[in-house]
Amino acid sequence: MESQGWENQAGTWRRVVDAAEILEDEPLAVEADGRKIALYRVDGDVHATDNVCTHAYALLSDGLLEGCQIECPLHNARFDVRTGRALSSPAERDLRTYPVRVVDGGVEILLPG
Ligand code: FES
Repeated sequence: MESQGWENQAGTWRRVVDAAEILEDEPLAVEADGRKIALYRVDGDVHATDNVCTHAYALLSDGLLEGCQIECPLHNARFDVRTGRALSSPAERDLRTYPVRVVDGGVEILLPG
């Protein structure tokens, strides 16, 4: 998908997907500026985290989203997709999260740098 962005002091907003493509309970993998990012829709709001688990290599977009929690498909660690907080072992480190906004029907993520 075409990427659009504009610069500001905090980073760059990148349009990554149409908002309608993100469904409740179905994590969606996207890539932006070489980053693997997972998008989630929870109670209508869109959240973005790094897609790679902080424990080992697994894509959280392949995991199970229940409410605001994503469960890693490999060793079942759970994270809060709103805050990135690691909620259960074996993950000990939180996930990076990204600010999200919806503009003209498109989801934009604020990327650092
Ligand atoms: S890779 Fe995610 S819990 Fe191990």
